[in-house]
Amino acid sequence: MPASSPGDGHPAPTATAVSALGLRKSYGEKVVLDGIDLRIPTGSVFALLGPNGAGKTTAVKILSTLITADAGDLHVGGHDLAADPQAVRAAIGVTGQFSAVDGLITGEENMLLMADLHHLSKQEGRRTAAELLERFDLVEAAKKPASTYSGGMKRRLDLAMTLVGSPRIIFLDEPTTGLDPRSRHNMWGIIRGLVSDGVTVFLTTQYLEEADELADRIAVLNDGKIAAEGTAEELKRLIPGGHIRLRFTDPVLSQSAADALLEVTRNDEALSLSIPSDGSQRELRSILDRLDSAGIEAAELTVHTPDLDDVFLALTGPANVPDQAKETVR
Ligand SMILES: Nc1ncnc2c1ncn2[C@@H]1O[C@H](COP(=O)(O)OP(=O)(O)O)[C@@H](O)[C@H]1O
Ligand SMILES: [Mg+2]
Repeated sequence: MPASSPGDGHPAPTATAVSALGLRKSYGEKVVLDGIDLRIPTGSVFALLGPNGAGKTTAVKILSTLITADAGDLHVGGHDLAADPQAVRAAIGVTGQFSAVDGLITGEENMLLMADLHHLSKQEGRRTAAELLERFDLVEAAKKPASTYSGGMKRRLDLAMTLVGSPRIIFLDEPTTGLDPRSRHNMWGIIRGLVSDGVTVFLTTQYLEEADELADRIAVLNDGKIAAEGTAEELKRLIPGGHIRLRFTDPVLSQSAADALLEVTRNDEALSLSIPSDGSQRELRSILDRLDSAGIEAAELTVHTPDLDDVFLALTGPANVPDQAKETVR
């Protein structure tokens, strides 16, 4: 992306890139967003996490001016969405859930089309297109029709097209859905690169791992409401499930350890014990002390903190979890 850091002529960024208060949207009888509040600090990555049909795309479409909200005090890039949607449009880039890439023309032609839409001069357009194609590893494919691209390449081209206007706030609606693991990791690297340039990223995802990897803050959308909001760590602390697991090679040792420790759950087949724990140093030490005084040595000790999957399942209920999210359960 053409370098554009604060101080080179761009207006000073406001501390809050996106804010929503009481955002509501219904389709007929169906309440999709039931008064949600969001605040995304400038330069951070925010993940809106939710199962299929939760309202993620609806939220993105509203905040990127594509559709209007029924109610809510909404600001993007310091501009009031209702009063000045044009200013919001100038500040943002959107990569939709479904590709904006035209398959009939080449990757380069797609890029030049975007440059035209942004009223760049011919020369500036060519320079920007070349720079972005290079950055997104699409130079070799640039002269081929986009319909011949792999899913990952199409996504990269889509994002490259979004960046033509050098937006400071980017909405990415499910940027990696349907990508293979390598392309997904590749996309994560690209998103991290944007963030290190100071771009604010609002992304939606069904993948807990993705939110965990990328986002500074995560909101879980369920049933039209924000079921929980915080850092990945904060969300993980919301729910129980942390434990320390000891594994033994000798059933006699496993039995003695179970006797020495209180409140264990035994798995006799795996010769393992699990002890509920917050994983703190104090708890760990107390377990080790008790094992030491009983003269017991475990073959393996692991600390398990609940992960976002646990949070997601607890908050959205098993019936609501899409198959794709189930597949990501580690
Ligand atoms: N244009 C529309 N007309 C009627 N219902 C819609 C429309 N767009 C979305 N919906 C409904 O709103 C709900 C949320 O959709 P969406 O925002 O696409 O969810 P997500 O992106 O989280 O999968 C779904 O039940 C969907 O069927
Ligand atoms: Mg969607």
